[in-house]
Order: sequence, then structure tokens, then C-alpha cells
Amino acid sequence: MKYVLGIDLGTSGTKTVLFTQEGTAVASATVEYPMYQPHNGWAEQDPMDWYNAAVSTIRTVLEKSGVSRRDVVSLGISGQMHGLVMLDAQGKVLRRSIIWCDQRTAKECDEIHEKMGKARLIEITANPALTGFTLSKILWVRNNEPEIYAKCRHILLPKDFVRYMLTGDFATEVSDASGMQLLDVPGRCWSAELLKTMDIEADFLAKVYESPEVTGHISKAAAELTGLSEDTLVVGGAGDNAAAAVGTGVVEDGKAFTTIGTSGVVFAHTSQLAIDPKGRVHTFCCAVPGAWHVMGVTQGAGLSLKWFRDNFCVAEKEAAAQMGTDPYDLMNKEAAQSPIGSNKLLYAPYLMGERTPHLDADCRGMFFGLSAMHTRRDLLRAVMEGVTFSLADCLGVLKEMGVEPESMLACGGGGKSPLWRQMLADVFACPVATTVNTEGPALGVAILAGVGAGLYPSVPEACRAMIQVNPAQQPIEENLAPYARVYSVYRQLYTANREVFKALAQI
Ligand code: XUL
Repeated sequence: MKYVLGIDLGTSGTKTVLFTQEGTAVASATVEYPMYQPHNGWAEQDPMDWYNAAVSTIRTVLEKSGVSRRDVVSLGISGQMHGLVMLDAQGKVLRRSIIWCDQRTAKECDEIHEKMGKARLIEITANPALTGFTLSKILWVRNNEPEIYAKCRHILLPKDFVRYMLTGDFATEVSDASGMQLLDVPGRCWSAELLKTMDIEADFLAKVYESPEVTGHISKAAAELTGLSEDTLVVGGAGDNAAAAVGTGVVEDGKAFTTIGTSGVVFAHTSQLAIDPKGRVHTFCCAVPGAWHVMGVTQGAGLSLKWFRDNFCVAEKEAAAQMGTDPYDLMNKEAAQSPIGSNKLLYAPYLMGERTPHLDADCRGMFFGLSAMHTRRDLLRAVMEGVTFSLADCLGVLKEMGVEPESMLACGGGGKSPLWRQMLADVFACPVATTVNTEGPALGVAILAGVGAGLYPSVPEACRAMIQVNPAQQPIEENLAPYARVYSVYRQLYTANREVFKALAQI
């Protein structure tokens, strides 16, 4: 039996899963790490935390499973997208990574539009300049920390830093590179025009591969640390969303998924390049060679519920620890006791600004309509509903672009909640299914690893062999109208407060 390894470098932690070549998970391990928020709207992580988490989780799954390292033929890494890792000439990390949800770069986005012209930028990168994307983060370091920029020789994305540490290779792949805003997304290569205009050294960037291609193998030093064999191949891997698409079988037109992780995403596969002229959703290369995807992003999806858990659910955390259960299960039970609309309470999930559909770094989260009658269960339900409405905004933009998914899968931590999935089914007014294997991005990159190692001829064929779908949760007819009413009020919240958010940001 051959095995493939998937490493998912997320925002809250890194999860590594060992799969058989048929896609059965045999062992998994997770290590968490902190996110630093030195100012409102800033978000940083330490790249060495990611690497140490990868090493320790790889060691653990090998030990737990008892599988011989010689049988682990290949691995793939899936990663939180857009984070900036800068290395010096010796390959040492120069500063903490400025990650995807950091919002400090509004001025740099203006600089990019000024120099490139917005229309030309969208032609090349398929997206307008965004605070979340890597290019504006690079410019921020150049503008604000010139002494660090002067020492920079390599620019990598989070998962590609871990690849570098495991293999010694400077490599990336098209799906994650699409989110750097330096890739020619239609052409699937770095844009010489963009690099020249923005005055960024081309040789700072890694070599670009397609996602299932082999980029190298485990180095001697990493083999000793992890317990892997030097013969284990490493494939391109994918950005977390492109990886989740492979892990849920969303690799053909008409297929789509919604993920509720730290961020939330509504993602649809497309074999034809489709770009929203208003830039409200992202168009990126996908992990299937020659194809793309469009996706809308909610910045604070699972993050909203985690924030609520950590600040207001101490009792649930303690009770769950005593009962040996997950605090989210208890929180779900509480939320289920509040009615649709949370007794007229709304929540906007803009804790870290918002991308789809507002593209606004200054907006922030809010509860709206608080009354003395509300209890924690209403607040909990309002958080889950607010995230669902924001994801409905994402789906709405995809539909406006003519991307009409025929099916919807749910994944990510939030996708495991039957209550949240029912909200998605009722608000999207479509059936929502899950896959039998819920490892999403980790399975996705393990599938890519299997294709790279020649175990399967193509990504869609590997998906057909390795992924099974559970029966879908159907929308409940009598819930549709009440949710539609609440959603229409939710949609007024942002517009009504746009200027207030700006004023607050300027204090
Ligand atoms: C996608 C995005 C997030 C991160 C973290 O554009 O920023 O989904 O990849 O999950």
C-alpha cells in the first residue's frame, strides 16, 4: 500500500493527515499557533511557528500510524493564502509574516492603481489591488521598513516557506501565486510588466509550477527532523481554497463549495476565465491545470464564532472540557434555541474589514438591534446568521457573473455544524451536501501529491476515485421567506454605516 501526506497550514493551526492512496485518512495531528494583532486591523504570524508545527505534526502522524516512511511516496502542502514571508540571502526570516487578513495597506493599494492603472491591473491579475493580497504588503514593508526591504532576497507565500524549509527549493504554484497580485492569471506565469512597473526584483520570486507538478523532494536535514524519507516527493500543492476544491471534488464546471474556516469562501470552478469587472470576487488559477475558479471571501467567518467563543463562552469551554466534548457543539445547541432572525438581532462579520462584496478595509463588525430581552443564545445565532448572509452576498455576485453552481458542498470547521449547514441551505435556497471525508484542503493536496507521484493520471480522475459525497441537506420550505426578510434588512446595514466606519477608522 502506498500513502500520501497532506499538510494544511491554516490560520489557527497546521493539520497534517496521512492518507492511503485510496483517500482513507489513517492518522492526523494538529498544532495551533497564535496570530499577533499589534494594532486594530493588523495581523501577523511567525513563519517558524508554521514550520515547527509542520515538523511536529508530520512526526506525530508517522508515529501514530506506524506506516513505514518508504511507503509515503509524496506530500502536498495547502496554505492560508497571500501572507508575505521575506527571507535574506542566507534564507533567514526577516520579519513576522503579514498575513491575509491584515488591513494596513490601503495607501499601497492606491499606489498600485496609480502606477499600473486599475483596468490594466485587472487585465493581468484578474483582480483590483486589495489590502489582503501580497503585493500591497511588499510595498508596505518597502515604504515603512526600508532597512528590512534592503536585506530581502526571497519573497515566499506561507506554504512555500514550509516547502523551502522541507526541501531547500524556492518554488510556488499557480493557485496560491494568483493571490500575490504579481501573477499573469490568464497566462499562469509572473507578469514581467507588473514587476517592472512596481520595481520588484523578479529573482525575489519562486519558480511557478502547476499544482500537481513535482517541485522537489525532502532534504536530508528535514528527513532527519520529520522522520520522512528523502525520496518522498513534494508537489506544488495549492492555496487553501483551491486545495479544498480538490478535496471536495469541485474540479469541474457547475460544481461549487462553501467553506467556513477562519475566513469564509464561496468557490466555483470555471474552465473559462471569468472576471468581475467590479473586482468583488477573486478570479484565480485553480489546482486543475489549465482551469480557474471564482470565489467570494468573507474575512471573518469562523473567526467571528471563535472570537465570540474566546471572549464570551468561558462557561461553555469549561463545561465542554469536563464533558470531553467540543465547546462549539454546546454553542450550536444554544444557538438552535433562538428563532430565525435571532429575535430581531443582526450581526455583521466585519471584524477584519470585508472583501466580498464591499472591498472595505475600514468597516468593522457589529451587533445591530440589541435589546434587553436578548441572551447569549440570540447573540450566538446572530453571529452564525450574519456569516451566512455574508456568504450569500458572495454567492449573489457569482450568480450576477453568470456562474450558476448546480450543486453546493459545505466544508471547513463551520461546515461540520448541521445547524450552520441548514442555514446555508435555507438562505442559499439550495441543497447543501458534505463529503464523507471532511479533511478538505489536506485531502486536496494529498490528491495532488498522488497525481504528481503518478498514482492517478489526472486531478478529476483522482477525485472520482477518492471522494464520496453524503446525501444533501435540503432547504426547509417554511424557513425561506423568514430568512429572506432578515437578509434584506442585513443588506442595508453596510450601506447605512459606510461613512460611520470611515469616521471611526480615522479616530
Ligand atoms: C483567500 C483568503 C483566505 C485565506 C485564509 O483569498 O484570503 O481564504 O486563504 O484562509
